[in-house]
Amino acid sequence: MIETKAVAEKFASIYGSGASLFVSPGRINLIGEHIDYNGGFVFPGAVDKGIVAAVRPNGTDRVRAFALDLGEEAVFRLDEADKPVQAWACYLFGVCREMQKRGGEVGGFDTVFAGDVPLGAGMSSSAALESVYAFALNELFGCGIDGFELARIGQATEHNYCGVKCGIMDQFASIFGKKGHLMRLDCRSMEFEYFPFDPEGYRLVLLDSRVKHELVGSPYNDRRVSCERVAAALGQELLRGATMERLDAIRERISPEDYKRARYVIGEERRVLEVCDALQRGDYETVGACMFETHRGMSEDYEVSCEELDFLVAVARECGVTGSRIMGGGFGGCTINLVRDELCDAFLAEAQKRFDEKYGHEPWVYDVVISDGARRL
Ligand code: GLA
Repeated sequence: MIETKAVAEKFASIYGSGASLFVSPGRINLIGEHIDYNGGFVFPGAVDKGIVAAVRPNGTDRVRAFALDLGEEAVFRLDEADKPVQAWACYLFGVCREMQKRGGEVGGFDTVFAGDVPLGAGMSSSAALESVYAFALNELFGCGIDGFELARIGQATEHNYCGVKCGIMDQFASIFGKKGHLMRLDCRSMEFEYFPFDPEGYRLVLLDSRVKHELVGSPYNDRRVSCERVAAALGQELLRGATMERLDAIRERISPEDYKRARYVIGEERRVLEVCDALQRGDYETVGACMFETHRGMSEDYEVSCEELDFLVAVARECGVTGSRIMGGGFGGCTINLVRDELCDAFLAEAQKRFDEKYGHEPWVYDVVISDGARRL
């Protein structure tokens, strides 16, 4: 539960009255991982965990922001020279600057925010943070920016102020989410479709390993660069639409590592479409089989999994779970699991017990509740 009341009260106590409240969610992704920046299809949905912000323009050129979960305040002006030092405040600063770059007349404001999207779990707490401010400032300063551009503002914030060359999926899901629906987004054309998602007889649960591997350099950006190199070798702008035949034809010209990365992407592109068809038939067994395949690809070819997540997926398989895989950017975080109702409790108990025995703590369990996107409260 997001502490909406606590956010409002904190705002009143430090900045006074007159704040408006906004919320923007984290996301899950059923299938289509590391596909957004390759221009393919992804299948996310917004969740019932998010970031709540109380915001009030203050008529100055300064932002005063208080992060309730950290008990920390940042104060900055909206020019490049005054980029804040706190990492969390850079998200706010980046959003304001990206809005201004697009002609949005964003001025100073006071704000308090808090959230319940677990950090580092692969559920896009950062996109929730960017989106809640993009959405709120757009309304409060009357910028008239549309939803797609608000998502791009969050993405550009990651690129230009936070060092992550992410795709558009997370910010899109956080803005456009709809209760009870997943979204199939074509990341090249930005066309999308809502899919009612109510897998009768199954539950969708996340197991949060609470593990985050801090890796040297930026392995996420490296994956993206690999894909770009292969696309260039194929004479394409994006990897989307590449085939194994064409990849094999250029195999000698690319590194073995890049070959594996592209092989994963080609397989994942196919799986997204397979999952869409299967969903329309209500065939969850096929959906689950694709999820296991995705995990194998992310672990062996894309190499964004880790021991703990591989372990959780192996336990899921042994327990007869329908589908399980690492979710999000990788290197820790959650598995997403499609589990038949009658199996769910036993599976969760077993996974928690065995993970605890091996790694010394239990993974946390989150039931996925597909919810609405950014909005005013
Ligand atoms: C992160 C990025 C997204 C996407 C996923 C992997 O969440 O922010 O753009 O690439 O990883 O699917």
